[in-house]
Amino acid sequence: MDDFNPAIIAFVCNWCSYAGADKAGGQKLPYPSNVKLIRVMCSGRVDPQFVMKAFREGADGVMVLGCHPGDCHYRNGNMKALRRFKLLERMLSQLGIEKERFKLDWVSAGESARFQELAKKMTDTIKKLGPLHLRGMVESEVA
Ligand code: FES
Repeated sequence: MDDFNPAIIAFVCNWCSYAGADKAGGQKLPYPSNVKLIRVMCSGRVDPQFVMKAFREGADGVMVLGCHPGDCHYRNGNMKALRRFKLLERMLSQLGIEKERFKLDWVSAGESARFQELAKKMTDTIKKLGPLHLRGMVESEVA
């Protein structure tokens, strides 16, 4: 499993988490290159179907990173995301996808080190779990 390089998708909100990731790059704080960013305007914009699509199309892990509670630039998009993804976590286990393969968390524009740490932790977690196999599942189950 040592040579397993997990595919991890991170949906990052434009105003905080993307800026935090960008700052990590600017400060030359290395984070695993297998974490691919998808920039969205707000974590509240991330539909659970985007997460399921990422898993279906080969992601071994998915993160949604937004502004800290109280800092969302659209007032409460992150809190909507929180409620939505609590439900998704329950659904994932019913679909046979370990809940550790998904993470919702907060990273501010100044928290480059926090972004780096979350990216590393997620990579370590997914490496331990191994590749995600959706084999045997009807596509509509994970749609
Ligand atoms: Fe960052 Fe809403 S703008 S979570």
